[in-house]
Amino acid sequence: MLKRTSYLSHSYDNPEGHTLAVYEQKGGYQSAKKALGISREAVVEEVKKAHIRGRGGAGFDCGVKWGFMPKDSAKPAYLVVNADEGEPGTFKDRTIMERNPHALVEGCIIGCFGVGAHVAYIYVRDELHLSKQRLWEAIEEARKKGYLGAKPFGRDYPVEVYVHTGAGAYICGEETALLNSLEGKRGEPRLKPPFPAQFGAFGCPSTVNNVETIAVVPTIFQVGGEPFSRVSALHDFNDGGARLFGVSGHVKNPGVYECAVGLTLRELIFDLGGGLSTGTEILGVIPGGSSCPVHRPDEIIDVPGDPRFEPYNGKSILDLPLGVDTYRAVGGMLGTCCAIVLSDEADPVLAFHNLMRFYRHESCGQCTPCREGCGWMERIANKIVEGTATMAELDEISEIASNITGNTICAFGDGAAQPALSFVRKYRKHFEDYILTGGKSQTKRLVA
Ligand SMILES: Cc1cc2nc3c(=O)[nH]c(=O)nc-3n(C[C@H](O)[C@H](O)[C@H](O)COP(=O)(O)O)c2cc1C
Repeated sequence: MLKRTSYLSHSYDNPEGHTLAVYEQKGGYQSAKKALGISREAVVEEVKKAHIRGRGGAGFDCGVKWGFMPKDSAKPAYLVVNADEGEPGTFKDRTIMERNPHALVEGCIIGCFGVGAHVAYIYVRDELHLSKQRLWEAIEEARKKGYLGAKPFGRDYPVEVYVHTGAGAYICGEETALLNSLEGKRGEPRLKPPFPAQFGAFGCPSTVNNVETIAVVPTIFQVGGEPFSRVSALHDFNDGGARLFGVSGHVKNPGVYECAVGLTLRELIFDLGGGLSTGTEILGVIPGGSSCPVHRPDEIIDVPGDPRFEPYNGKSILDLPLGVDTYRAVGGMLGTCCAIVLSDEADPVLAFHNLMRFYRHESCGQCTPCREGCGWMERIANKIVEGTATMAELDEISEIASNITGNTICAFGDGAAQPALSFVRKYRKHFEDYILTGGKSQTKRLVA
């Protein structure tokens, strides 16, 4: 259901929207004041009521995650904000940092209080120069006003927020690789358990959350947890609130649109994205960053035994509300909710080739199935495009991808395997054409 909202994007069009003055005109920092006036437990309960599913890709409930933090640890605790945003096709977090950085700073104050931390680190991808600049300015403004520092809003609960710059490695977006990188170590994922809530930054209890997850927390205290959850069309799925939806690729108006949770791909592509910019029909859509399986528009929703799916069964996947559990139920993944649209002018084989080059390049190399598997998949993709691959090698891609899935320390491996498995299965004819024509396939058109 298309319902535009402006909780985070209210001042996106205002050139001064990133300043404290504009943020405060919109009621900024009243939520932090409210949250610091109640107990830590009450803060976590309010966040739980909002059912905010993590906006970084895995979709874990934010309030539940905060509740995992120990209540009486002898060690300090940390809030770590994941601002790495390296997922191909994903460009929503930078809009918050550039155009509404105070929402993130305010979210950090509430988040620190909720998880029992006095320090928040925002780990920003180094290339995001304007994001870093705007965050530094916002932190400085908040500090000058006393919102950060020894006694925010008069409460004896010191909070500091620091920006830490990464070095542009996709793997450093994985939460435990990020923690290692933050500590000055190689950005390699850690084996879990222990989870960050027990052993996070510097071996201390930590919560890692995405930029948007934290930036929307002030809204929870402005609107109320339960009412904010009900803004969503997927309240029954415990997937609450509103979120930033991105759309890119072959659409007329690529961009970031804030809407209630439960928007469909059809609404995102046609009503907000303005429809296709090239070609006549949709070839496929990757719903949320490149690590999700691709969907064809002729996929029909069929989830028996769950009355919540009755309104959608029998319809195209384009009409399924974009939610964490709705997409899981159809064998897909919502990811970051930033869709990449391919029209029928695109070549799925070249799109697949592009993705396999990316994953081979970005694998940290720690786990053999991922390091070797991504290399093998890229080499076969090269051969398909050159016209020297065999049908047996085409089948090997699925075998390799299946052997990566679930066999690595982190989810990077699955993120490489999912597009591989889905592209080869759903566009098999295009792949076979390449092999049968020695790379002179008639389906070869635009590079996606
Ligand atoms: C390879 C890889 C890259 C990731 N990149 C990001 C990222 O750039 N930003 C992000 O928020 N989460 C990213 N994640 C997900 C994080 O590991 C983690 O789930 C997330 O930061 C938790 O925040 P949330 O619960 O608020 O979504 C990535 C995961 C993997 C496996």
